[in-house]
Amino acid sequence: MRRINIAEPIIEAEEIAAVTQVLKEKRLSQGEYVEKFEKSFAEYVGTNHAIAFNSGTAALQVGLAAKGIKPKDEIITSPFTFAATANVIVLLGAKPVFVDIDPETLNINPLLIEEAITSNTRAIIPVHYAGQCAEMDEIIRIAKEYDLFVLEDAAEAHGSLYKKKLAGNLGDAGTFSFYPNKNIVTGEGGMLTTNDDELAKKARILLNHGQDGRYHHVEIGWNYKMMDLVAAIGLVQIKRIHHILKHKKELAEYYIDIFREFDFIRPQTVRSYNLHSYMLFSVLTSNQAQRDALQSILENAGVETRIAFPSLHLQPIFRRLYGFKYGQFPVAEKASETVLCIPIHAYLQREDQEYIVNVIQESQKELEGLK
Ligand SMILES: Cc1ncc(COP(=O)(O)O)c(C=O)c1O
Repeated sequence: MRRINIAEPIIEAEEIAAVTQVLKEKRLSQGEYVEKFEKSFAEYVGTNHAIAFNSGTAALQVGLAAKGIKPKDEIITSPFTFAATANVIVLLGAKPVFVDIDPETLNINPLLIEEAITSNTRAIIPVHYAGQCAEMDEIIRIAKEYDLFVLEDAAEAHGSLYKKKLAGNLGDAGTFSFYPNKNIVTGEGGMLTTNDDELAKKARILLNHGQDGRYHHVEIGWNYKMMDLVAAIGLVQIKRIHHILKHKKELAEYYIDIFREFDFIRPQTVRSYNLHSYMLFSVLTSNQAQRDALQSILENAGVETRIAFPSLHLQPIFRRLYGFKYGQFPVAEKASETVLCIPIHAYLQREDQEYIVNVIQESQKELEGLK
């Protein structure tokens, strides 16, 4: 049976040659490949600094730690995200404060942020869900008013534009992931981008055992360094980004156009001033029964799908730590019950999309009946 993956990274002869070269040079830890990758990523995003990490999670954690986030601080973020966004807050001893999302964009709802601010609030982490930027003008306005640090979780948003400016260069800092399902990949890997010299300096120290020079430890730090082996892949990938984004945009346009015919699936709304980079292609169904049926119809036809994301506040650990209950973030809950991500990636072809759409069309009556 045909098998269509939800995501598939581009790994071609260039990536293989790049890794082979690094191995031949026996550069197994951090060196000039990482430096070059940081430089080209900073040039791409347009920030003064780009600092490489061994994961997007590590970049997020150090981004917060470099700003001096400490126990008891409260950090506002979306519950409709991958666990890493909130995990790093808890790992620093701080408290994640969730704010519900907008039902159309599925990004944090800026109209609800101010009521979540207390005297302990120190930062906002807007997550650019699926590759569409959050409402940054409003978020930055609030942050300025309350003196809050804005760290964009741009893990899913390489190449996403907000009012013509790239994700990662909108807040005080931004973080990216190069996990294999992302728009550009290195395997495990991440990047912190910022124009803040102090923050960049502190982040470099924290990610490398707290050293500001060899065996000179000025902080308690982590070992979160990216390897040259990994950076070599990133250097090839960053040259591919325009091609990947263009291809994904075409795929997304096709889906959006076709889905107008179905009243039971509605793609995530894209604001006119945003350029979505489609790390994920998310559709909303009318209810959970319909979403679950759509998922199993597609899975049975060999089409991989994903529920991204089950709202974090209902995950066992967040319920246990903070006593969250069903009903507290109704929009995120509804999204968790009705959202489904369908395949979109650089190798996906129009005929694959036609196949996916046909499978849905054939089950249209059954799905409509679940309204
Ligand atoms: C929104 C978000 N934040 C953070 C991460 C963590 O990145 P990584 O897997 O590179 O640690 C991911 C994805 O993996 C993500 O989707």
